[in-house]
Amino acid sequence: MRLCVIGAGYVGLVTAACFAEMGNRVVCVERDPFRVARLSHGEVPIYEPGLEAMLKVHLASGQLSFSQHLEEGVRQAEIVFIAVGTPSGEDGSADLSYVLAVADQLGVTLKQACVVVNKSTVPVGTAERVAQLINARLAGRGLGCRVKVASNPEFLKEGSAVEDFMRPDRVVLGCDDAETAELLRRLYAPFLRNHERVLSMGVRAAEFSKYAANAFLATKISFINEMAGLCACLEVDIEEVRRGIGSDKRIGTHFIYAGCGYGGSCFPKDVRALIRSAEQEGFEPAILRAVEARNTLQKTVLFQSLHEHFAGYLQGRVVALWGLAFKPGTDDLREAPSLVLLEALLAAGARVQACDPVATAGVAACYPQALASGQLCLSESPYTAAEGADALVLVTEWKQFRQPDFLRVRGLMRMPVLFDGRNIYDSRELSALGFLYRGIGRPVAGHCKASAA
Ligand SMILES: NC(=O)c1ccc[n+]([C@@H]2O[C@H](COP(=O)([O-])OP(=O)(O)OC[C@H]3O[C@@H](n4cnc5c(N)ncnc54)[C@H](O)[C@@H]3O)[C@@H](O)[C@H]2O)c1
Repeated sequence: MRLCVIGAGYVGLVTAACFAEMGNRVVCVERDPFRVARLSHGEVPIYEPGLEAMLKVHLASGQLSFSQHLEEGVRQAEIVFIAVGTPSGEDGSADLSYVLAVADQLGVTLKQACVVVNKSTVPVGTAERVAQLINARLAGRGLGCRVKVASNPEFLKEGSAVEDFMRPDRVVLGCDDAETAELLRRLYAPFLRNHERVLSMGVRAAEFSKYAANAFLATKISFINEMAGLCACLEVDIEEVRRGIGSDKRIGTHFIYAGCGYGGSCFPKDVRALIRSAEQEGFEPAILRAVEARNTLQKTVLFQSLHEHFAGYLQGRVVALWGLAFKPGTDDLREAPSLVLLEALLAAGARVQACDPVATAGVAACYPQALASGQLCLSESPYTAAEGADALVLVTEWKQFRQPDFLRVRGLMRMPVLFDGRNIYDSRELSALGFLYRGIGRPVAGHCKASAA
């Protein structure tokens, strides 16, 4: 099929490359000319495993191309995907200005009937607005053709986006007519050869499903983080509790890891947008508000622990941070818990030596002054970051940090103090190596009430 994907971000790029991989001809339209130039030379501006190799193959074969011009992208398109950002607006609602601007541009550019698919995460009713906007423009130009607008929310995860897109758990197709549903089902058929995982529904239900999925996952995280806080008060190890509850199939083992809060480009903004939608409908979103409030608090727990450990005197202390990206496998720093900690440490006068396999460039761009003054040092080696440190904080659980040479780390640090923001280390092992270990919702080794009994 001939496709156009609008927006070359995490979702648009992966969508364009994966559809090209299945033999479709795809033009990806991006408004940023520098991005288009880099992509046209096979350079991927984001970090996403497997994407660059795929992109290079399909650029060379001509199945995939990039353009800054919408007209070029939609000229022969049967299906047009909208994959632009929907960030939080000032009041927390989804800022639809990028989506609606694309709809407006489509209305003045399209010359043929086609199916427009919203892949961006958008509130219920947006597909109707997009359809009205485009079709009003088409009618105003005296054209008899009309577009149909479907919702196909994206469930890929940054860090495994290509894999997720190629082998999806499910493909949600929100279409209000059978012809559009059939067209999209055919497009996705090659991705679903082993299992029928298409979930067909109405447009509004598809739009809502994406928000409900993200809100549920965020709820699980905030729930376990709240339990961790209570565990810390009661001297119970949340890791034992996690195993205790995760074995119950109704609860499951996923998304019940205590940590320093969720970040990223989706959960925070989507929870806020859902809260705002509820408010606009006069419905009280009590659970969602609590999920968000817990997460805001959770992002401060590492700093609080450090503050407590140093009795409030952080001025001049050297703190090593391992992991900056909001999660492993991506360079995305949007709403990352690391940034909340980093900013609090800088404000308290600490010197920060941070390390991340791929996200240091993004941090360097955000904190030029701290870098220039030497208060912030960025490194790609966890060992360099640990040199002379008074404390080490694990924030993002990249594989590189899972099993370091802790004897070497201890030798490099001024004080062997470790704050484990993701509970990935064995507290007893680290204590035996001479570290003072602090996890999230974990008693100090040897101080568990149950084990002392
Ligand atoms: N990132 C994820 O993991 C993820 C997962 C599922 C769904 N989503 C949703 O998908 C959407 C896109 O997210 P993203 O992370 O890819 O965003 P992004 O910010 O990485 O990319 C958006 C791209 O669209 C471009 N753009 C904006 N307006 C344009 C226009 N008029 N014409 C052409 N290009 C334009 C921007 O320049 C940018 O490159 C959002 O609604 C998001 O909530 C994201």
